[in-house]
Amino acid sequence: MQKQQLLYKGKAKSVYETDDNDFLILHFRDDTSAFNGERVEQLARKGEINNRFNAFIMQKLTDAGIETHFEKQLSTDEVLVKRLEMIPVECVVRNFAAGSLVRRLGLEEGQALTPPTYELFHKDDALGDPMVNESLSISLDWATKEQLSQMQELTYQVNDVLSEIFDAGDLMLVDFKLEFGVFHDRIVLGDEFSPDGCRIWDKKTKKKLDKDRFRQSLGDVVEGYEEVAKRIGVPLD
Ligand code: TMP
Repeated sequence: MQKQQLLYKGKAKSVYETDDNDFLILHFRDDTSAFNGERVEQLARKGEINNRFNAFIMQKLTDAGIETHFEKQLSTDEVLVKRLEMIPVECVVRNFAAGSLVRRLGLEEGQALTPPTYELFHKDDALGDPMVNESLSISLDWATKEQLSQMQELTYQVNDVLSEIFDAGDLMLVDFKLEFGVFHDRIVLGDEFSPDGCRIWDKKTKKKLDKDRFRQSLGDVVEGYEEVAKRIGVPLD
């Protein structure tokens, strides 16, 4: 598969065309951004760690019968994926209260959400990814009712598979965000799963080991990602 021209440069990944219209190459960069791109820093090795982390998780999800766009890791910081027609809706599951939910409702950070709760956000940087709902997503033709219900079911399945994996590493999967797209009429998991798009805490100490280390200027951001990777068995070299 030949890498061709740059199709799109996101905040942390660049997307390249290939000589096959059904496949793209994602390049995980070291750029780390917060507050909708207001703060951007280069964190050495982050691209490589996220690429390896994502490959490991996507393989676990594939093994569990969840279809993903992941095809094959091409290099330390590049992956070959299926080309999806992305649905501009971000699917979030929360097992414990944190982030925007805490700010919105004044909850205590870490409060268990039983059963886990599910939220949708519209993927739109200019608007700061506003919260939306299923009804609006259908009215605005972002997805059909059937697609949205499949996305919800798949996101909960991902939560079941991954909560167990993190739990075995003495970690709490607090929340995470997924993006889906359509590939030959099927709903397929796209984008990435890495500590950039989820919250992971140490079970005992509640130490944050995800992108909140960057958002909250806690330091040792990449070290946090590496700690999680090691505990769940991601091969780092
Ligand atoms: P939030 O608390 O900021 O709403 O985020 C919930 C989870 O989803 C958290 O793990 C971060 C992730 N997320 C992203 O990675 N990108 C996004 O655009 C959104 C809305 C959430």
